[in-house]
Amino acid sequence: MKILVVGSGGREHALAWRLAQSPRAQFVYVAPGNGGTQSDANLKNLPITDIKVLAAFAKREGIHLTVVGPETPLADGIVDLFRAEGLRIFGPSRAAAQLESSKDFAKSFMKRHGIPTADYETFSDAKAAHAAIERRGVPIVVKADGLAAGKGVVVAHTLDEAHAAIDAMLGSKARGAGGARVVIEDFLEGEEASFIVMCDGQHVLPLATSQDHKRLLDQDQGPNTGGMGAYSPAPLITPELHARVLREIILPTVHGMAKDGIVFTGFLYAGLMIDAQGNPRTLEFNCRLGDPETQPIMARLKSDFIAVCDHATDGTLDQVELDWDRRTALCVVMAAHGYPDAPRKGDVITGIPPAQDDAMVFHAGTTDKDGQLLTAGGRVLGVTALGDSPRMAQKRAYELVAQIGFSGAQYRHDIGWRAIARRH
Ligand code: AMP
Ligand code: GLY
Repeated sequence: MKILVVGSGGREHALAWRLAQSPRAQFVYVAPGNGGTQSDANLKNLPITDIKVLAAFAKREGIHLTVVGPETPLADGIVDLFRAEGLRIFGPSRAAAQLESSKDFAKSFMKRHGIPTADYETFSDAKAAHAAIERRGVPIVVKADGLAAGKGVVVAHTLDEAHAAIDAMLGSKARGAGGARVVIEDFLEGEEASFIVMCDGQHVLPLATSQDHKRLLDQDQGPNTGGMGAYSPAPLITPELHARVLREIILPTVHGMAKDGIVFTGFLYAGLMIDAQGNPRTLEFNCRLGDPETQPIMARLKSDFIAVCDHATDGTLDQVELDWDRRTALCVVMAAHGYPDAPRKGDVITGIPPAQDDAMVFHAGTTDKDGQLLTAGGRVLGVTALGDSPRMAQKRAYELVAQIGFSGAQYRHDIGWRAIARRH
């Protein structure tokens, strides 16, 4: 079978790598892919990003199934387009992807369906938003309404920061008039976790639990990023909490969407905040897999992933039981000089060790130029290792990191600290 993976990040490399291990895999195309998917003999890069051209390719080549990684093609309607052409694709429709692409849509949806989340208000008028900040006080969270690649959220601890965030998001008249909106919501305290499931429109199949590290620097300092590392499983998510998240958040979301006339298919990712009493609340929804959470999740998945995605596309996920490696998988992201604001490109990468049973390096912002591997984006590599405990997985991952070099590489030294602290 020929499979197409849409995207170019570490998430897509991990997805394509796992799909290619299925005995059913003939070719796995990655569009557009990166330096790592290019050099992997089991994968084929396809330099196409236009979704209409991708649909034409899938038709011409007889692609059996397409799996979509990032949010942008989903919000652009790639699933609707492929389905209209009679092509098999796993992902949410454009309407369903609004759960991620509009914060206001997600918040009003959660409120309407009683799904636990922070209290909020939405504004398009800057004056009214500033007044709300004065009324609500700090700490407070200000979010741009549309897709912002992880940059549209400001957690403000002072009134000045909150007002500045409003100015940045609603400031200029032109943008306000263009329909810009902000969501202002209560600050929630606790520990974050990523809860990711597959949905076939009717059934829900949870993937292994995971947590990521959003801040750039050790001890969760510095600016927010797309994610500097992740691990699976997340010991924070006990079996009781797992059942509660399914019952109180995931199932009401899928059923609520159906009630609103939108059938949800695809990966559904609830970003959770777990408070000190163990109560889960939803910070956000993503309609896709997490990056870098996918890297450790795929490292642990033992099931035939083409078969799983086939069930997800056919509406028979209730027939699937996933098989996981019992070890912890841990991924350390190596990022480029200047990430997240202005990542430098073109640095030569050396020393990537070959894949082993307990070690795999997933590429993200890399490119192969005349046989030389160069940095080509913010997050460059997802160095992933398996170990019998979070500590052992961490040790192994950092052994691999130590072998890899590129000028200006930035990475955290404490990925997995929460899991390690929880398990003495
Ligand atoms: P989001 O894109 O909505 O997940 O927000 C990005 C990050 O901002 C989250 O991972 C949290 O660390 C933080 N955040 C978002 N909303 C809140 C909130 N209501 N309370 C505390 N932190 C938040
Ligand atoms: N790691 C966070 C995300 O994928 O949104």
